[in-house]
Amino acid sequence: MNEPLVSVEGVEVHFPIKRGAVLDRTVGHVRAVDGVSLEIWPGETYGLVGESGCGKTTLGKAILRMIKTTRGRIVFDGIDLSTLRGEDLRRTRSRMQMIFQDPLSSLDPRQSVESILLEALRAHQRARGRAWTRERLRELLSAVGLPAMSLRKYPHEFSGGQCQRIGIARALAVQPDLIVADEPVSALDVSIRAQMVNLLAELQQEFGLTYLFIAHDLAVVRHIADRVGVMYLGQLVEETRADQLYATPGHPYTRALLSAVPVPDPVVEDRRERILLTGDVPSPVAPPPGCRFHTRCPWRQADGCGSVQPILHATADGHWVACHYAEQIKAGRIRGRAAPPAHPNIA
Ligand SMILES: Nc1ncnc2c1ncn2[C@@H]1O[C@H](COP(=O)(O)OP(=O)(O)OP(=O)(O)O)[C@@H](O)[C@H]1O
Ligand SMILES: [Mg+2]
Repeated sequence: MNEPLVSVEGVEVHFPIKRGAVLDRTVGHVRAVDGVSLEIWPGETYGLVGESGCGKTTLGKAILRMIKTTRGRIVFDGIDLSTLRGEDLRRTRSRMQMIFQDPLSSLDPRQSVESILLEALRAHQRARGRAWTRERLRELLSAVGLPAMSLRKYPHEFSGGQCQRIGIARALAVQPDLIVADEPVSALDVSIRAQMVNLLAELQQEFGLTYLFIAHDLAVVRHIADRVGVMYLGQLVEETRADQLYATPGHPYTRALLSAVPVPDPVVEDRRERILLTGDVPSPVAPPPGCRFHTRCPWRQADGCGSVQPILHATADGHWVACHYAEQIKAGRIRGRAAPPAHPNIA
């Protein structure tokens, strides 16, 4: 475990905004990912959270090279992906797979489960003789908890959770090292979300997988992530071990996200303070100067926040926060418009 499996180095993904009759004029850029660096270690689950539009999916797709980066490098298992072409690129890419948010629409409705899985096996030249293939299909279904008779069925014959299991089996078919799970449970019924998270955790153990687990919601990643990165407007504003993030959130944005996580105990729920973020998320076409979060930050200070961009700095071992006033806020020396919550769900 001396080398990260994935190393994201100063990555930017800017989408051009085209105008004009033939869309030949670039009038600006959506700065979807705007200078992110992070490392994902073999066997770990890295949870990536943040509000809608902050660039999570774009970063995930950039790692898998489904979209090109504007700047920066992505190194997978020691290899800079941008240097690979043809067969080498295809082979390396097959070591990374994605699971999507909407399980049904990520499956071709005209293909049976058997042909979906066979296609995945063949695309990566892992299909061998018939007996081997049959056995492999059986193993895949059993790994994700679907009966063997599912092979002859079509996606619409399954529930959302079962479709997600098919998507997971498809991802596993090529024996990947890394799985980017993009909000894999958000579209599912609340009652089966925990099951799905547990299944992913079991598969991780069984197959030695590494996960980039993307979610809106801090409650979901809490149960599965080893470390969590919090994104805001294309940038990472905090990164730390999952338990540390929930116990001592360092960035005002993380505190706000945490205060929105429901607490099961109704008495605690009634008493605890909430940080309501005012205003919309600013546009990633023209992000605010200084700290991108300052326009909505309850702890905003006149000095620095609106003019100087904070960089990630360590506030504790392995705990990185991009906020000029993180230490003062933590020590209670600066009061926000709502008092900083100690998250009551943490004993
Ligand atoms: N192909 C594209 N062309 C132009 N803009 C894009 C493209 N894909 C994403 N964007 C924009 O980039 C920004 C980041 O989008 P992205 O989908 O990565 O966010 P997200 O964090 O995954 O959001 P969500 O939680 O809603 O899935 C958004 O403003 C989005 O509109
Ligand atoms: Mg997304």
